[in-house]
Amino acid sequence: MTSKPKILATRQFPENVLIRLNKDYEAVVNSSLDPMPAEELIQLAEGMDGIICDPTCLFDEKLVSTLPESVKIVTTFSVGYDHLNVDALKSKGIALGNTPDVLTDATADIAMLCMLGASRMAYSAGQALRRGDWTSWSPIEFLGTHVSGKKLAIVGMGRIGEAVARRAQGFDMEIHYHNRRPVDARGLENATYHETLDSLLEQAEFLSINCPLTEQTHHMINEEAISKMPNGAVLVNTARGPIIDDNAVLAALKSGKLASAGLDVFEGEPNFNKGYLELNNVFLLPHIGSATYETRDQMGFKCLDNLDAFFAGKPVPNPI
Ligand code: DGY
Repeated sequence: MTSKPKILATRQFPENVLIRLNKDYEAVVNSSLDPMPAEELIQLAEGMDGIICDPTCLFDEKLVSTLPESVKIVTTFSVGYDHLNVDALKSKGIALGNTPDVLTDATADIAMLCMLGASRMAYSAGQALRRGDWTSWSPIEFLGTHVSGKKLAIVGMGRIGEAVARRAQGFDMEIHYHNRRPVDARGLENATYHETLDSLLEQAEFLSINCPLTEQTHHMINEEAISKMPNGAVLVNTARGPIIDDNAVLAALKSGKLASAGLDVFEGEPNFNKGYLELNNVFLLPHIGSATYETRDQMGFKCLDNLDAFFAGKPVPNPI
């Protein structure tokens, strides 16, 4: 009997995923609930054939250079891979995989939750109730803005951007988007394509960030970008924190240039800019875009599909 490939799992993944992992592989799983520190990862990776990592694991040039030669594949439990130095990993001959598609709906749902939570002042209204400050129904308290009839500007019309657009159309929003090229997705025939970000921003009564974090998109939503948006716009970010410049966003939320923001992701998370906690016009979540039982199982299964194919000598089905 040939021995099973050895896999290091950097996190406690969902039970169904670990059952399959342990059945088909000789697995070493992070025994704590916390992210695995880099030194521990390097130590445990010795003799491993592959790694299932997660977005808290930074595979920077330094880590990749010390990764044992035994590691032949890294598959990340995420669709985003800005935590992986892809060039460094590939130049070491390491195959790479991720988990596209299965988190599209869950993440688009959270984008809508952020949009509605921000525009309807869900945080401050909910807080008033919890504090016991809700004394009577009032014609002029807890007011927010409609989403219906408003222009939703989407930056990045990939799978998640499209899913957000479809949902928003159900709320009677008018869809505008900026992407490298126009998409011809079914159901989005009425969406307006903007060749430049500036042109999109001018229409952005609501702005939803759905593009990957790259060198080009880092701090893309900065003071200058925000100044191009209509006054009183609503910002939603469910992609990656560093795409927005927190200081510029905080200033705009204070001045009223932005009416509100719904944020699920943060630069430096979990150590996010605490300035957000001082504001009532923000709706904040701790990066839970993909956090449903169904999605997290599917993400793990995609990682395992990547490993299964690789060790069977076949192409990785979800390659980076
Ligand atoms: C991803 O998959 O990139 C998500 O951000 C994790 O939920």
